[in-house]
Amino acid sequence: MALDIIITEDQIQARVRALADELNQNLPSDGAVVLLGVLKGSYPFIADLSRAMGRDVMVDFVQVSSYGSGKSSTGVVQIKKDHDINIEGTHVVIVEDIVDTGLTLSHLRQLLLTRHPASLRVVSMLSKPAAREHSVPVEHVGFEIENLFVVGYGLDYAERYRNLPFIAVLRE
Ligand code: IMP
Ligand code: MG
Repeated sequence: MALDIIITEDQIQARVRALADELNQNLPSDGAVVLLGVLKGSYPFIADLSRAMGRDVMVDFVQVSSYGSGKSSTGVVQIKKDHDINIEGTHVVIVEDIVDTGLTLSHLRQLLLTRHPASLRVVSMLSKPAAREHSVPVEHVGFEIENLFVVGYGLDYAERYRNLPFIAVLRE
């Protein structure tokens, strides 16, 4: 397996700072903000983003599974871990690693809306628009990429490569 870097660490970090500014401009300066990371892939992004925002935020996580351990979706969405914070009346930002088919995110958005947040938006480091099967709004996107399987910056292949500071295509 070889790794072809498509987005460098410097490019990621510059984009994180820009996304943090974008979010700060779009969120009210008063009222509770909850950054809701989708485990496991969002862990480096939410750590960098939450610090780059430089304002008072709460951080929580959900885990939703739609993929097995390989490269293809099973089409089944399951909540494996729910958030702990009561999000009613708060400004919720779903923090995702990647939006691929949109299946995970469309289910999560619908579920969270039933809990009456004051607002709900999504920030995803990556988006594969060509792979979309479920239309779902993604308000803030780091990078749009082609329909390729990528790893790094939280994204895994069989639980490996999440700790790479860059994003790469895995080539056999
Ligand atoms: P969905 O198809 O939009 O529901 O994507 C579900 C999840 O699949 C994402 O949150 C990722 O965890 C994973 N995923 C999708 N595309 C890739 C990829 O290129 N590399 C690694 N994981 C991916
Ligand atoms: Mg994910």
